[in-house]
Amino acid sequence: MSLRHSVFRNESMLVPEYVPSSTPHRAEQVRTLEAYFQGVVEYSDRMSQNVLLWGAVGSGKTMLAKKLGVVLEKKAMLYGNRVKFFHVNCRIDRSLQAVLTKGLRFLGHDYPSRGFGFEELLQSFLDALAADKIHLVVAFDEVDSLVTADPSSLYTITRLREVSREAQVFSSLLISKTLDYLKLVDLSTLSSLQRNEISLVPYSDDQLYDILESRAQEAFNDGSIEDDSLHLAAEIASIYGDARYALDLIYRAGKVADIADSQRVMPEHVRRAKASLPPQFKKEELTYLGRHQRLILMAISNLLKKSESAYVTIGEVEKSYDALCEDIGLTANHHTQLWNDVNELSRKGIIETQISGKGVRGRTTMIGLSLVSAEQLVDELKGMVADVRG
Ligand SMILES: Nc1ncnc2c1ncn2[C@@H]1O[C@H](COP(=O)(O)OP(=O)(O)O)[C@@H](O)[C@H]1O
Ligand SMILES: [Mg+2]
Repeated sequence: MSLRHSVFRNESMLVPEYVPSSTPHRAEQVRTLEAYFQGVVEYSDRMSQNVLLWGAVGSGKTMLAKKLGVVLEKKAMLYGNRVKFFHVNCRIDRSLQAVLTKGLRFLGHDYPSRGFGFEELLQSFLDALAADKIHLVVAFDEVDSLVTADPSSLYTITRLREVSREAQVFSSLLISKTLDYLKLVDLSTLSSLQRNEISLVPYSDDQLYDILESRAQEAFNDGSIEDDSLHLAAEIASIYGDARYALDLIYRAGKVADIADSQRVMPEHVRRAKASLPPQFKKEELTYLGRHQRLILMAISNLLKKSESAYVTIGEVEKSYDALCEDIGLTANHHTQLWNDVNELSRKGIIETQISGKGVRGRTTMIGLSLVSAEQLVDELKGMVADVRG
């Protein structure tokens, strides 16, 4: 309980990781997912499954996967079977090696993170499942990261389902924004992937409203968010069909209301929340950046905050980045790597680069921020300083 009045009953129910109890407009997809895995829960040593779940950002993929996990484990118990569900984000664990090692730890087995080859790891993984008599369903979230980094990983995933000798021990749920990653995979792997597909279309305005209403009931105090505010947030987010953005809007609007000491969240608070964070800028993106990329971004934001101009030169950025590294006792990367990182930040749409004309400074790369103010970015990054150091 907080001592001050707040519009929130429990704001933690609005964080993206929270799994809501009710999920409007996804009932059919929930049923389909459960139906695909019915055989696994019922005959867990004889059946194995692979399902592809795909859809745009904020369409509910991760949420559906996590809900499925809870249901599968429970249902299997009713049949006297041991099914476990393991969710990994492949943007964080970018190799199958990392996923399997984590999986083994999840099952309570210690596995040294280095010193063994991949085949040994694979074998230990299968042995552990067989010994524990567990059928593991792994949700490979953002699986395209894994496949892009190493196309053969998908082949290994299909193999894991086939090599199990006496009993089936492994199933997979492959989650991605699009199915483009399948283009990287050879035909025989493609054909052994059972292509059970579930696609999620982006939410409409009305659907987003229903979602917000149901989530607001959990997270806000009764009567402390105006219906019009929910409608407005739904309408703004409907351009993208993105439930995460819609929820982020009402969460931030709630914060704006609290700071203004308002008893209720009004549409104006939603408008201000919108202004504080352009939709294309996903805070989440920042958490996936490497340490050096964050430092580079920090350097750019610091410079731009002080500067009158909309752009800074790459030379200035490099100097400031070197200084930041020195501050925290980190060896700075060389120019070529810095250049690669800058290009990647630009590809992700976080910064904008352009070549200056032949002017006072000669020809050089100019860097600006495309989506968000330097001040906001510095604020967001500051919260991650611990990570930057870590
Ligand atoms: N139908 C729904 N009902 C309630 N909340 C939803 C619904 N769909 C998505 N959400 C919420 O929206 C946010 C984004 O969903 P998420 O599953 O993370 O999207 P994705 O993984 O497709 O990018 C999460 O907070 C999730 O709980
Ligand atoms: Mg997701």
